Amino acid sequence: MKFILNILIGTFIILSTVNASYAEDEKQTMVDVRQQAMQAMWTRLERLATLIALPGDSVTSSDGSTIIISNQNNMEPLETYSLIHAREAEQDGLEIYNLLTQVENFWPRHTSVANVKSTNAERLVWIIPEAFNRYYTDAVYASQNLNTAFKDKDAENIKRSVCMLALSCGRCHAGFRKVRFDNLRKEGRGWTGNYNACWSYKNEVTLNSTAIRE
Ligand code: HEC
Repeated sequence: MKFILNILIGTFIILSTVNASYAEDEKQTMVDVRQQAMQAMWTRLERLATLIALPGDSVTSSDGSTIIISNQNNMEPLETYSLIHAREAEQDGLEIYNLLTQVENFWPRHTSVANVKSTNAERLVWIIPEAFNRYYTDAVYASQNLNTAFKDKDAENIKRSVCMLALSCGRCHAGFRKVRFDNLRKEGRGWTGNYNACWSYKNEVTLNSTAIRE
C-alpha cells in the first residue's frame, strides 16, 4: 500500500512540475510574441514616417543607408516611399493592423513583471486595465483609418492618419511601458509618437482625446 502511495505521490509530483514548467513557457512565450509584434510594428511605422518626413528629416532605406529628405524634388510622398523602401506603403498599414489585432489579447495578468521578468510592461496595465484597453482600441481605430486613407488615395488623410497612429503608440507607451536606459537612444520618435510633422495633430489630441479615433 505504501509502495503504491509512493508511486502515486511521485507521479503527482512529476506531473505537477511538467504542468508548472509548461505554464512558465506559455507566459514567457506570450511576452516574447507581444514584444516581437511591437518591434515589427515599429519597423513599419518608421518606414511610414517617410510619408510625413519634412525636408531635412532622415529616413533609413531598405538597404540600411540613411537618406535625408530634401525639399528640392517635387515627388509625391508615396512615390518617395516606394523608391526608398522598395515596397508599397499600403502594405505596411495592413500589416500594422494585423499585428495589433494579433496581440490584442496577449496581456493577461499572469504575464505581468511579477511573473515574467523580461517584460517591460508597467504594472499599471493590470491596475487600470480599462485605460490600457481604451488606448489599445484607439490604436486599432487609428490603423483602420490609415488603411481607409490609403484605399481612398487621400494624401492629406494619409498624413494625418500616420500621425494619429504614431501618437496612439506613443500615448500608450508613455503610461504603460517602462523605458529602459539602453532603449533611450531609440525612443526619440515613433515610440513616443513625436514625429516633427505631427505636432499639430498632437495638439488636436490634447484638446480632444477622441480625435485620435476619427
Ligand atoms: C495600448 C498600449 C500600446 C499600444 C497602442 C502600442 N504599444 Fe508598443 N508596447 C506597449 C507595452 C506595454 C510594451 C511593453 C511590452 C512588454 O515588454 O511586455 C510595448 C513595447 C513596444 C516595443 C518594444 C518591444 C520590445 O522588444 O521590448 C516597441 C518597439 C513598440 N511597443 C512599438 C509600438 C508601435 C510602433 C505601436 C503603434 C503602432 C505600439 N507599440 C502600440 C504598449 C502599447
